[in-house]
This record gives sequence, structure tokens and C-alpha cells, in this order.
Amino acid sequence: MLRSIIAGIGMYVPENIVTNNDLKKYMDTSDEWIQERTGIKERRFADRTNETTTTMGVEASKIAIKRAGITPQDIDFIIFATLSPDYYFPGCGVLLQRAMQMNCIGALDVRNQCSGFVYALSVADQFIKTGMYKNILVVGAEKHSFGLDFSTRGRNVSVIFGDGAGAVVLQPNEAVHDPSSNSESGIVSTHLHSDGANAEILAMYNPGTHANHWVKEKKLADFNEGEAGDMFMSHAMIDNAQNFPNMDGPAVFKVAVEKFPEVIIEALNANGFQTSDLKLLIPHQANLRISQFVQRKLRLRDDQVYSNIQKYGNTTAASIPIALCEAWEEGKIKEGDLICLAAFGSGFTWASALLRW
Ligand code: COA
Repeated sequence: MLRSIIAGIGMYVPENIVTNNDLKKYMDTSDEWIQERTGIKERRFADRTNETTTTMGVEASKIAIKRAGITPQDIDFIIFATLSPDYYFPGCGVLLQRAMQMNCIGALDVRNQCSGFVYALSVADQFIKTGMYKNILVVGAEKHSFGLDFSTRGRNVSVIFGDGAGAVVLQPNEAVHDPSSNSESGIVSTHLHSDGANAEILAMYNPGTHANHWVKEKKLADFNEGEAGDMFMSHAMIDNAQNFPNMDGPAVFKVAVEKFPEVIIEALNANGFQTSDLKLLIPHQANLRISQFVQRKLRLRDDQVYSNIQKYGNTTAASIPIALCEAWEEGKIKEGDLICLAAFGSGFTWASALLRW
């Protein structure tokens, strides 16, 4: 079996920097509150009309493809992870295929929110390992600024999120002699999990087809039985802010600090490693306090955990590839280093990937 390597990596963030103080124009919040609870100082917001989730993904992909030393026409499969697609359907994968004038290759969209990139990477890894594809483009991108409640009502969610994109090109590592050896370069293993018991704790309910099927006691939509067409998006849903993400922050925090360490240890144990073997942990940038908690629990040194949430906020599916790209550009990742990617988010879903760079 072949082993997949990241042959090229790229990232893109919009120019527009939005500080915590800038958000005070729209809502009752403060720089102190946001920094103390999340570690975030600023985030980027895409241009309202000229940038979309896909166009940001394209910019990150151009860099990743160039660094891999190939052209967009060499890509033979696209996997695009996002929760903020340009259209409800079709997905961003096909829009990227069109924008980059790629061949009529397969394009798959992944909807796993904060774990989206690790899930996408895992799917790509399987296609490479089996020899089905040779150049897979894996993208994580989000334009959150277009779909958040910037009034005081939505402040617990809207201050956290930012826009951006990251991308990698995955290829088979032709130089690998022993794919079972965990010292050869490439993706060593991936670990995926989900538990839908608390799906509504961090969710955007509408537009959707749920018709209050799952949560009977707390109506999530103005749904009139028997009336077709008006339950997908109604004025009442908009009046009740049900077209915005809904989050019970403390409940998410509690599960995140349990699942992050669990899935990191799972990846290390599966391959006979210890935390001391890790050169760098790149956690999904959900909240600096969550990353610090994970660091303490795993007894990792400061230089073993990468954080850039201060600059970009939580960019969901884009956060891991952006962080991985920055860490690599800053020279913090060198050939032979053991890197762990770990994510947790809405669903709940959580995942890890262990890489030998
Ligand atoms: N500015 C000022 N005050 C705010 C605020 C904001 N942006 N957002 C919420 N508050 C207020 C609340 O209204 C509440 O006020 P009250 O005590 O008068 O009712 C108070 O701050 C505390 O709210 P709480 O939600 O308990 O705060 P918290 O310490 O749990 O921090 C989060 C909130 C969202 C930062 C935190 O829960 C968190 O990060 N959770 C995980 C979220 C996450 O990672 N999501 C992505 C999944 S990957």
C-alpha cells in the first residue's frame, strides 16, 4: 500500500482585519472579554461582494498546487470542506473545479464543520493509499462573516469566527520503501469519530428540512403541518434568529477539552508514540483556552503546540490547514518531524491525523 504525503500547502486570508474593538460598533462586547475568554485579538473578513468561500479556496489552492510543482490540470480529485458554501447546493468543489479550469474530475464536499479538514484529509489518504488518485486537492475554506448575527443577541458566537482558506495537495510518496514503518514521510494514520447525541448544541437549524422532528419540546422552526414550501425558510425563523448558528458555548467547551486529548492520545497509541515524540500539535483553532487546557493535560511544552487564533479567530474547516501552512512557512516543521492534527466541533465530530513530515 502507498503512503500519502503533503506535496504542497497554501493558505489565503482576506486583507480586511477586524479587531475586537471594531466589533463594538455592532454589539455590546469588549476587547477584554473576547481576549480573556477566547484569546482572539482580531480576525479577517472577506470582501462582501468580491470574495466567496470558493474564491478564497481557489487562492489557497493556487499556492498549494504551485508548491507541489504541478498545474491545476494535474489534479485528479477535489475534496472541499466547508460549512459556509457559496450555494446551499451545488457544493464548492464544483465551483472550484470551474474557477481553476480543471479537468472534469470528481469533486466531493465534506460537511463536518470544525473537523472537516481532517475528515477530508482522511478520505483523500484512502484514495491515495489504494492508488486510485495521484494528485488530490484538499481544501478547507469559510466565509463566516456573511452568516453571523452581529447584534448583541449573537455575540457569544459572532466574536469567535473569521474567514479564510487553506489547501494541500496530497500525493503518493514514491520514495517510501516500507509503508508500515512510521518513520517514513507521509500520513501515518487518521482517526475519525462522531456522537450525534448533542447535535443541536452547536448547529444552524434553518434553512433545513427538520420540521421539528428531532427537538419537539423546543420548536426550531415555524412549521405549519400540511403547508408545503414555507417551512424551509420563513419570516418567523428569521425573526427568531434561527438562520444563524446557535451554540451553547460552555457545553461545547466541556466536551471539547475531553475529546481533543482523547483523539490525540488515540493517534499516538495506535502507532507506539508518546507525547514527547511530537514535534508539533496543530489543534483546530477553536479557542485559546481549549488549546491551553489540552496542552496542560498532555503535558506538552509551549513549543509543541501551535496557535494562531489570536490573528484569525476560529476559521472552522480552514483553521487547521491555515495553521499548518503558517507553522511550515515559519520553519517550525521540518522533514522527519512528527505532527499531529486534531479537531473537534459541531456534530459533535472529532478527529486526528498523525503525519511524518
Ligand atoms: N462579549 C461580552 N459578553 C459576552 C459575550 C461577548 N462577546 N458573549 C457572551 N457574553 C456574556 C454572556 O451573555 C454571559 O453573560 P451573563 O453572565 O450576564 O449571562 C457571560 O458573558 C458569560 O457567558 P458564557 O457563555 O458562560 O461564557 P464562557 O466563559 O463560557 O465563554 C465562549 C463563552 C463561547 C467563549 C466559551 O464557552 C467557548 O469558547 N466555548 C467553546 C466554543 C467553541 O469552541 N466553539 C467552536 C466549536 S469548535
